[in-house]
Amino acid sequence: MVQGVYFRQEVLRQPASSDNIMILLTGATGFIGGLVLKELSKKNVRIRCLVRKTVDSKNPNISYVTGDVLDPESLVKATQGVDTVYYFIHMMGKQKEQEKFDILDRRAITSMVKACKINGVKRIIHLTGMSDPREKLSHHLASRKEVEEIIRSSGINYTIFRASVIIGRGGAAFEILDTAVRRVPIIPVFNWANTRVQPIFIGDVIRYLVECLDKKETLNKCYDIGCSEVFTYEELMREYARELGYNRIFIHIPGSWHWLSSLVLGKMSSVNSNVVYWLIESLGNNMVCEANDLKKIFGFEPISFGESISLIIENN
Ligand SMILES: NC(=O)c1ccc[n+]([C@@H]2O[C@H](COP(=O)([O-])OP(=O)(O)OC[C@H]3O[C@@H](n4cnc5c(N)ncnc54)[C@H](OP(=O)(O)O)[C@@H]3O)[C@@H](O)[C@H]2O)c1
Repeated sequence: MVQGVYFRQEVLRQPASSDNIMILLTGATGFIGGLVLKELSKKNVRIRCLVRKTVDSKNPNISYVTGDVLDPESLVKATQGVDTVYYFIHMMGKQKEQEKFDILDRRAITSMVKACKINGVKRIIHLTGMSDPREKLSHHLASRKEVEEIIRSSGINYTIFRASVIIGRGGAAFEILDTAVRRVPIIPVFNWANTRVQPIFIGDVIRYLVECLDKKETLNKCYDIGCSEVFTYEELMREYARELGYNRIFIHIPGSWHWLSSLVLGKMSSVNSNVVYWLIESLGNNMVCEANDLKKIFGFEPISFGESISLIIENN
């Protein structure tokens, strides 16, 4: 009987195509990479994390290798024996070379692609920012687009997800939204008030990033990901204030004044002030999803903005 039950479970378990593969995870100390690591560690895969400072691991399936995406040699070492690279890097927070973050991001991904080719890496999985190709893009979004294009034209298989505001504690855009709504009773809205955005809950982002490992249909595809609702930035702030039970007054001010709002929010929020500056500069770009077949492939749809906020409030 016991043997029968055991046998049945063995037969039912579908071997995943990712079973026992070696993954190189970049950005493991960051918002997205940290959560992807947590989920990947539940799967039957070996994970090597590329980090700038040494970390000890107690999990035999997780190892850490020190390196830097700006050091090509360390990337060649890190990608040895690797099947799939998760690429979760951006350089917007760098203090001294702030204006050149796009140059650094270009250098980093170019070196990563080279290293992947040297070591025969089969796939790169990447999360980037959503943008509308018909618009003039902000510095941040233009740089994100360039990184995406370098991956797409590398000749290596890829899966790329593009998100707008990710709703989750620790996410830069969410922390800025949270600071503005919680701490500013009279909220000035500038010329980005009517820019449209389609947010997504962090749990759904991580599901796409981890589950795509076993979904061959996602090879060489790019997907915009978001919940089913589209908001203007003003509506997003009003809705968040409502969910929190805060009464907020919104005043419209012409112009962008992004340097001023980023100065204030950079001081008030936990987010690196350079990152705040470049994200606020991006508020003029619409971030609305192109239609896709993700529901058919993954069997779920992202939860609504209201549900995301309720989950965050519950877990606070
Ligand atoms: N957060 C969002 O709301 C959001 C929305 C849309 C798209 N995305 C995309 O998601 C990806 C990851 O973003 P994130 O929010 O997780 O960023 P994050 O929290 O700032 O993490 C960035 C990671 O990059 C690492 N890194 C930076 N420079 C490095 C270098 N020279 N060598 C090695 N590692 C380096 C950092 O490591 P250290 O700890 O050593 O600094 C950190 O682990 C990005 O491609 C971003 O465009 C994020």
